[in-house]
Amino acid sequence: MNTDEARQLERSYLLNLYPPIRMPMVIARGEGARLWDSDGKEYLDFVSGGRAVTGLGHCHPKVAAAIRRQAEDLVHVSNDFYTEPQLRLAERLSQLFGGRCFFCNSGAEAVETAIKLVRKQGYKTSGADKHEIVTALRSFHGRTFGALAATGQPKYHKGFQPLPSGFVHVPFNDVEALHGAVSVRTCAVLLEPILGESGVYPATSEFLRAARELCDRNGAALILDEVQTGLGRTGKMFAYQHYDVEPDVITLAKALGGGVPVGAIIAREPVASAFEPGDHASTFGGGPLPAAAALAALEVIEEEGLVENAAQVGEHLAQGLRAVQEKTSLVTEIRARGLMIAVDLAAPVAGRVKQECTARGLLINTVGDQMLRLIPPLVLSVEQAESGLEVLGEVLASVATE
Ligand SMILES: Cc1ncc(COP(=O)(O)O)c(C=O)c1O
Repeated sequence: MNTDEARQLERSYLLNLYPPIRMPMVIARGEGARLWDSDGKEYLDFVSGGRAVTGLGHCHPKVAAAIRRQAEDLVHVSNDFYTEPQLRLAERLSQLFGGRCFFCNSGAEAVETAIKLVRKQGYKTSGADKHEIVTALRSFHGRTFGALAATGQPKYHKGFQPLPSGFVHVPFNDVEALHGAVSVRTCAVLLEPILGESGVYPATSEFLRAARELCDRNGAALILDEVQTGLGRTGKMFAYQHYDVEPDVITLAKALGGGVPVGAIIAREPVASAFEPGDHASTFGGGPLPAAAALAALEVIEEEGLVENAAQVGEHLAQGLRAVQEKTSLVTEIRARGLMIAVDLAAPVAGRVKQECTARGLLINTVGDQMLRLIPPLVLSVEQAESGLEVLGEVLASVATE
């Protein structure tokens, strides 16, 4: 299929949601950090499939084998039954974080689940008044109604009101505002440890510490949304481990299934015990196929030292980008945590840079028109980092002189 045919089919048969972000190619195949389009053109994938999902690279052989094996044994039964992959996955995640798990199918669903859990906890301890959830401006938590209400970006709310109530937004990293917002009515503070979708802005230690202290003082839970930052992306297994703060609940998705849709929350006591049978459920959540994929993905992350690789190759990329910055005034700031990197530009040319990089076989993200975002797979080698840097450096230099 070529791009013209794809566009025609999209116009006829898909809801009109993605055309502005669609790249002009039909992706046909992937392996590791590389993708190929239907014309056979090769790309170096610095976006992990577009949205930071394929942390293990594309079609990791161990994940592919686990999917194949499981597909031959049992693809689906619901939570009316026990299945070993789900229980083993819960055991493994609990070993990593502590607490107990619930499985769903996406990041937004994980956030929805966390919201319901802390509302229930507030209700059980203090009644319905204890329902407020404090979140940050510029955050992104997903597109379903609860997750959307939590998301601190009015542009995503427009046209969809009324949203669920009880969400209070404070400026990210504003400790004083957090003090003003958290009260006895608060059942939880929900934060991304590093703003991802908005452009790689890490929380300050002071902000996360204040969130923890205010939650403790007010009998509220601290939820950290690790949908994007979790499972090695930032050079630690979880981004909260960069801080001396322990959350009560984390949300996971994106990299968890090695490309297969899996979402999860892991909750520690006493919050974990707020749910009672019947409070929440998911037909597909934790099914044998996605659970087998996620188990294999976790094994690969550990066996191949991908958390350490993300830290090392991320540092290499960041250093290379700083060298590029010295040569061109177009780059104004670089923010990097492992393989989660943003590059601020002095002019609104992000789209142009992305287009040129794509033409030269390097896939990158943009945030608005003055920021680039690099979220390559955790399997990225130093050589691949170097070749991406070479392209990006040359493109930035040529766009700067236009
Ligand atoms: C921090 C965070 N939370 C939640 C989500 C929503 O995940 P999904 O698109 O899988 O629903 C995203 C997606 O980008 C995210 O970055």
